[in-house]
Amino acid sequence: TIVVLDFGGQYNQLITRRIRDLGVYSELHSNKITADELKELNPIGIIFSGGPNSAYVEGAPNCDPAIFDMGIPILGICYGMQLMTHHFGGKVEAAHHREYGKAMITVQNGSSLYHDLPKEQSVWMSHGDLILAPPEGFEVDAVNPSCPVAGMSDAGRKMYGVQFHPEVRNTQFGDDILKNFAFEICGAQGEWSMANFVEEQVDIIREQVGDKNVLCALSGGVDSSIVAALIHQAIGDQLTCMFIDHGLLRKGEAESVMETFAGEFSMNIIKIEAKDRFLGKLDGVSDPEQKRKIIGNEFIYLFEEEAGKLENMDFLAQGTLYTDIIESGTDTAQTIKSHHNVGGLPEDMHFELIEPLKTLFKDEVRKLGEELGVPEEIVWRQPFPGPGLGIRVLGEITDEKLTIVRDSDAILREEIKLAGLDREIWQYFTALPNMRSVGVMGDARTYDYTVGIRAVTSIDGMTSDWARIPYDVLEKISTRIVNEVAHVNRVVYDVTSKPPSTIEWE
Ligand code: XMP
Repeated sequence: TIVVLDFGGQYNQLITRRIRDLGVYSELHSNKITADELKELNPIGIIFSGGPNSAYVEGAPNCDPAIFDMGIPILGICYGMQLMTHHFGGKVEAAHHREYGKAMITVQNGSSLYHDLPKEQSVWMSHGDLILAPPEGFEVDAVNPSCPVAGMSDAGRKMYGVQFHPEVRNTQFGDDILKNFAFEICGAQGEWSMANFVEEQVDIIREQVGDKNVLCALSGGVDSSIVAALIHQAIGDQLTCMFIDHGLLRKGEAESVMETFAGEFSMNIIKIEAKDRFLGKLDGVSDPEQKRKIIGNEFIYLFEEEAGKLENMDFLAQGTLYTDIIESGTDTAQTIKSHHNVGGLPEDMHFELIEPLKTLFKDEVRKLGEELGVPEEIVWRQPFPGPGLGIRVLGEITDEKLTIVRDSDAILREEIKLAGLDREIWQYFTALPNMRSVGVMGDARTYDYTVGIRAVTSIDGMTSDWARIPYDVLEKISTRIVNEVAHVNRVVYDVTSKPPSTIEWE
């Protein structure tokens, strides 16, 4: 393990990601971790991240000074290097000119960090402070015109520092520098992979669960599906999944979940048909937030009710990811993200939690799914909101409107896949605004619904742009929807980004 200590920089998660991509396991931890706690993680190397503070200011984030004496190689990045400098009595100051963006550095010695790399390289800088003089015992490895110490090291004590950010893609040899740190300096073997993650987790789960039983709420989404597959691999029939069909799923979705998990994987699955119950509660409700609340609460009540009927369930499996934990702060104990998600189950249930994905990032979860043989449609499934089609039928929900959304959405998905755009577009679906307009079909006037197409590109759903679907693909989708879905005579394409819009229409 290479442990990254978090000093608040914006790229900290990226450092962990890059190290893992080198085949070396890495975790991000609070800078408040003690040397003893750190020792228990058995690190072969430590990285101090960047951060927004000035190392010389009273109260600036610090670390347990004993960490410097552990004899484990340390790489300080930006603030991390300044902290190291400050600790060992070097000189850190505010720069006359803050430096952001690309810069050229010149490597001027044989420091292992730049092993096999050219002397001149372009790097990404983002700092307001700089180091005027390295501490005693340190050599200047690299310089740049505005930065007398762009890199430094004390090879004897295995301490290294860089002013630039090797973890961002704009640093030309960033990966190589991290690789040199991990392999040349820390002696990493590079053996971490999904295959041994599975092996490791299977052992851990078996150990944790013993001969007890695990319950998992399966939604058909990426995380819950993969968590179920992983636990099933570990303990087989000691796992029971509960799949609640709230009647707001997409076309064919419930069937495909059952086919995959009950069929192919032979898992114990209890399917709860609850369409009438949900639609009953939603009857006459048109406010989006109220709909969300009703669906979310009802899901929890129903899950509790049904789970209460089962005997001997000791553990509850959750698909908590690393980002959920990091977002809630590495300082604080993990809190389960309540979000507006129907998967957010109550904490006062009498279960012990089991969360085997909690050290993984989303794309690693997908790799894990592939490793476990989970079908591609699930592994690469686009995000789908917990309240489902309930927030894609705008206003009051009826069976007829659900059918229109479901059928038009199925056509959209089919055509996007056919056009080979399904991995490029982050999320795509149809929505049914609560409006009708006049049209003409055959020789007759129609007065029918309008279907909206929403398709966006995004990284994380926080911001998005509308996807530039080629006109001929849009044409085909529109023609098919109007021809094949009853009571639709108009199709519109949503060309707004988020912000100012949101991705969903409610
Ligand atoms: P918005 O519409 O807020 O959506 O731009 C951002 C992302 O979140 C999803 N979303 C939800 N997911 N429960 C969920 O689990 C919800 O109530 C909910 N509302 C939006 C949305 O599909 C998009 O991926």
